Amino acid sequence: MHNPWWYVPELTAPMVIAIVSVVHVLIAHYAVGGGLFLAVETTHAHRTGNADYLAYLKRHARFFVLLTVVLGAITGVGIWWTIGLASPLATRILIRTFVFAWATEYVCFLVEIVSAFVFYYYWERLPAGIHITTVWIYGLSAWASLVIIGAITAFMLDPGSWPVDRDFWSALLNRQALPQIISRTGGALLLSSLYVYLHAAITIADPKLHGLIESRSTRPALLGALMITAGGILWYLRLPESAQAALLAAPVLNVFMGLLFVATGIVFFLLFLGPYRNPGWIFTPGFAASVLLFGLIGFSTGEFVREAVRKPYIIYNVVLGSQMLPREIAAVRERGYLESGPWTRAFVQARHPAAIDGGKVDVKRLLALPEADRVELGAMIFQYHCNNCHAIERGYSPVGALIQGWTPAMIRALVNEPDSARFTMPPWSGTRDEAELLVAYLARVAPKRPSGMLPDRGR
Ligand code: HEC
Repeated sequence: MHNPWWYVPELTAPMVIAIVSVVHVLIAHYAVGGGLFLAVETTHAHRTGNADYLAYLKRHARFFVLLTVVLGAITGVGIWWTIGLASPLATRILIRTFVFAWATEYVCFLVEIVSAFVFYYYWERLPAGIHITTVWIYGLSAWASLVIIGAITAFMLDPGSWPVDRDFWSALLNRQALPQIISRTGGALLLSSLYVYLHAAITIADPKLHGLIESRSTRPALLGALMITAGGILWYLRLPESAQAALLAAPVLNVFMGLLFVATGIVFFLLFLGPYRNPGWIFTPGFAASVLLFGLIGFSTGEFVREAVRKPYIIYNVVLGSQMLPREIAAVRERGYLESGPWTRAFVQARHPAAIDGGKVDVKRLLALPEADRVELGAMIFQYHCNNCHAIERGYSPVGALIQGWTPAMIRALVNEPDSARFTMPPWSGTRDEAELLVAYLARVAPKRPSGMLPDRGR
């Protein structure tokens, strides 16, 4: 059954998810890495009795709590909101499959918030031992959320035997979980060090304190860069064959994949040559901001690639990008696409009651309607079936540009077998007659072949 869903002009709804998630991920990984940083460093500062360093950590904690708790929570809710609108079916399956994991994650989140507030607001009032324990509780529960959510997002790329056995543990402990947890933990360590560099470079004047922070946070940053690379390679090796092929076939993904490794490499060498080998050398806000920028670029492209290689699925082998379950396609093709969805049927009923025969949609009658009506119906089918991956005339992978200059016969061939043209597209899920409605619409959307090209066959 096709759910009604969210039409976002030009950008397409999944791109809104991509934007919100990238912003969220950049904050959420800092929430984990920064928590571990504060835990290790507060312990160190208490043990060595370094009051200056403690005072700095308190200032950092304020920045940290504001950014992670406020913005992190808002963008986190933003993800639920956008995925629920854009992919109700996939969201429902993720909620149902992982009820227990989500519940555990919410407990971790609650523990995180409470311990972060206690850690910051009771700074001078708690004995050192309890203060240290609080921040470790924060750091470890934040990391536990990363493990759980990392495993769930990994499930979307390779659910393993879950589609057959429906086993919670085989879903959670999927093949992609470990690589993602390794690279996400690495990302958390690296990103948080980069935020610390920038914050320290802007707010600290004392060179001695600078030197201390540099030397303390460079090692986790270098370790983080190595973990991202190791996790990334393992991720690639364990990808399903179709995802590897999708990665190689799409130019933009090729470029992004390269960018990811180049950006991580640049960050690694800048940190190695700068703070690690030559402390105090180039520790300026400009340097810190550039390294952070490379880190953010590497991270965002990584997330984008991870999302994009799943096509034609939203959840691999479970939910297709056309918002259908693979196992329901045969029945929907048999019954008719318009007839099978309550909302598509309601649309036909409202606009063309005469095309309803014995309570069922009669597509032959729809095909006899004037062209403008057929185009309108085709546009509606496009929304449900294709708009998840294609904008219309302009924007993200716009179908108009893809079929510029195509003949109706070419469009017809593609609509009836999109999965033969590109394995990254879901199969056509309607009847041949319904395909004609979509063909009528696409023929209207397709621009003419650009003029002035040689040889001109006079089209
Ligand atoms: C799950 C995502 C997804 C869905 C849903 C989807 N497509 Fe595609 N489509 C793709 C991808 C990926 C490509 C390759 C794009 C590229 O090369 O830029 C593509 C390419 C195309 C092309 C160009 C093919 C070629 O040979 O050059 C057309 C036309 C097209 N899609 C039309 C459609 C139509 C019509 C629908 C709905 C019936 C649809 N797509 C649904 C992902 C999708």
